[in-house]
Amino acid sequence: MDSFIAMNIAILGAGAIGQLLAHQLDAAGNTPFFLVKPEQRFLGAPFTLQTQTGTQARHFDTFSLADELQPKIDLLIVTLKAYQVRRALTRWQAKLSPNCHILLLHNGIGTHLEIAPILGQHGLSLGTTSQAALKLGPHSIKQTGNGTTQFGHYAGPTMAKELQQLLLKALPDSCVAEHILTALWHKLAINAVINPLTAIEDIPNGALAAEKYQHTISAVLTELMQVANLEGIELDSAFVSERVKQVISLTADNYSSMHQDVAFQRPTEIDYINGYLVQRAHAHGITLFYNQQLLTKVRQLSQH
Ligand code: PAF
Repeated sequence: MDSFIAMNIAILGAGAIGQLLAHQLDAAGNTPFFLVKPEQRFLGAPFTLQTQTGTQARHFDTFSLADELQPKIDLLIVTLKAYQVRRALTRWQAKLSPNCHILLLHNGIGTHLEIAPILGQHGLSLGTTSQAALKLGPHSIKQTGNGTTQFGHYAGPTMAKELQQLLLKALPDSCVAEHILTALWHKLAINAVINPLTAIEDIPNGALAAEKYQHTISAVLTELMQVANLEGIELDSAFVSERVKQVISLTADNYSSMHQDVAFQRPTEIDYINGYLVQRAHAHGITLFYNQQLLTKVRQLSQH
């Protein structure tokens, strides 16, 4: 029988991925709770998850800043969009005990640098997931894709072994990545190609397999490889290109998250995807023509 140590896990960000993780943690025997804005506090009906095998309903507590946080949090999983992370963590920081470990899980890169000044004694892990879910209502989601989840240490004290074991047990196809930044850069390559191009061209992911996009795709990836190299991140260019092709074909019918953000006039994650590449390139004294172009076009689209 498994030895079971109860750990308090909170999720900051009750979006589709946050709710999916909550259901998966609960199914593995460790019910998390959500940290939300006061207007999102939810005391009524259960949260529901639709999968291919049926619908499950579960109850999760929700706390907002005005509430007394009992019990203390051992692990805070942040599943907000990248552009929300710094602000939200700054607000919640005073409520976290110094040994609360933080795990950031979102598309794009850059929040680990932004939150460095407020990290204090907290240990920080970063993660990436290719699981997919769609929000059907505020407390109701549908799992739209299976996938892998990787997480790994970035700064400060490491995540307690019990917490690692718990995540590995709860999250399907999950693993601890020794080089988490490399894993994040692999995902960044996928997002740097698919997200802006599908948003700008107003197409589903699969349409990017057409010949007319291949030059831009390869130019965006060449620039990404150049910046990765300057950042000391080792990527295999053939592997990265192949993986991008694979994801385009595996998610052919989907509309990317950035396509949806633009369509529904929500802020996009562009500053943490192509914007991050442009910014890091700038820090190394180079400019990126293709990534800058995508960044500018998506920013223009979101303004409209
Ligand atoms: O952001 C997204 O939409 C997804 O990360 C991906 C993999 C590009 C599929 O649509």
